[in-house]
Amino acid sequence: MSRKIGIVGSGLIGRSWAMLFAGVGYQVVIYDIEAKQIESALVDIEQQLKSLEKNGLLRGKLNSSQQFACIKGTNKLEEAVRDAVLVQECVPENLELKRKVWKGVDDIAEPSTIFSSSTSTFLPSLFSDHLKNKKNIVVSHPVNPPYYVPLVEIIPAPWTDPAVAKKTRAIMEEIGQTPVSLSKEVPGFVVNRLQYALLNETWNLVADGVLDVKDIDKVMSDGLGMRYAFLGPLETTHLNAEGFVDYCDKYANTIYSVSKDFKPLQKWEGPQVGEIAKQLENMVPKDKLQERRNWRDLALTKLSQLKKSLQ
Ligand SMILES: NC(=O)c1ccc[n+]([C@@H]2O[C@H](COP(=O)([O-])OP(=O)(O)OC[C@H]3O[C@@H](n4cnc5c(N)ncnc54)[C@H](O)[C@@H]3O)[C@@H](O)[C@H]2O)c1
Repeated sequence: MSRKIGIVGSGLIGRSWAMLFAGVGYQVVIYDIEAKQIESALVDIEQQLKSLEKNGLLRGKLNSSQQFACIKGTNKLEEAVRDAVLVQECVPENLELKRKVWKGVDDIAEPSTIFSSSTSTFLPSLFSDHLKNKKNIVVSHPVNPPYYVPLVEIIPAPWTDPAVAKKTRAIMEEIGQTPVSLSKEVPGFVVNRLQYALLNETWNLVADGVLDVKDIDKVMSDGLGMRYAFLGPLETTHLNAEGFVDYCDKYANTIYSVSKDFKPLQKWEGPQVGEIAKQLENMVPKDKLQERRNWRDLALTKLSQLKKSLQ
């Protein structure tokens, strides 16, 4: 079986995928429309791998030089796509662009190559209906930063061959990610449906003046999020009573009546956008965003080490 992966688009997500695939010895070929991007991606990946190794955080089975040796750049799409077991598309979130890029891949790919998109918002049916190999399309939606947050949602289009979704899942497991396989495409997939449910309620609570931005965020970071890093919401309920049936006996009425108090869905616009932005910028000034992202990545690394040690 081919051990080659093609990466199309060498930005933030393309680089992370390249490192994850190379970690277990896949031969990775990165293509980008911008020659400069490929160069900077290779420099960045080498630096990242070395620094991860130095800090004892390198994933995969090979050392950093061996991993880096598995990654090549190209400015010819064909060199990335030819004979690849899977092509991971990581171009910007623009539907017309995704349709065009996949058509280009489809024209030169082998019939057995998996077409895997990193899109965070577009249903796979929207950018694969025109492809001759459309049965090979899946979305493999990562969570940023994928190197530290292992979840990947695998989403089929209505015409995806189930064997393709299954093989993609096996590859994701092989590289050490945590795949979940959706049975069908739904808007927002699952990560964003859950995320948006939470975000909509934070919006309404701020609008109501119940808590300010800092304290709402604390409810997650120092409250619910502490548990959710280890247990999902359903297992949490199971443990918070004598099992799930007991939880429903005890709390179903409360969940129902509190949920009836939820305010209708609001569009995120108007003066509250500026108000929330102002409070967030007091917490993290805009010129400190990168510093805070670096801190977030460090915190996530430590969390993933802790999770591993508990397994
Ligand atoms: N950044 C995130 O947090 C995140 C998380 C999950 C999924 N995603 C998804 O991953 C995808 C990529 O996002 P990103 O943040 O890496 O974007 P990015 O802007 O960092 O990188 C995109 C890269 O694609 C290249 N590109 C543009 N047109 C191209 C073409 N025709 N052919 C080849 N390369 C081309 C650009 O030069 C750039 O290097 C998007 O679909 C995004 O929704 C992003």
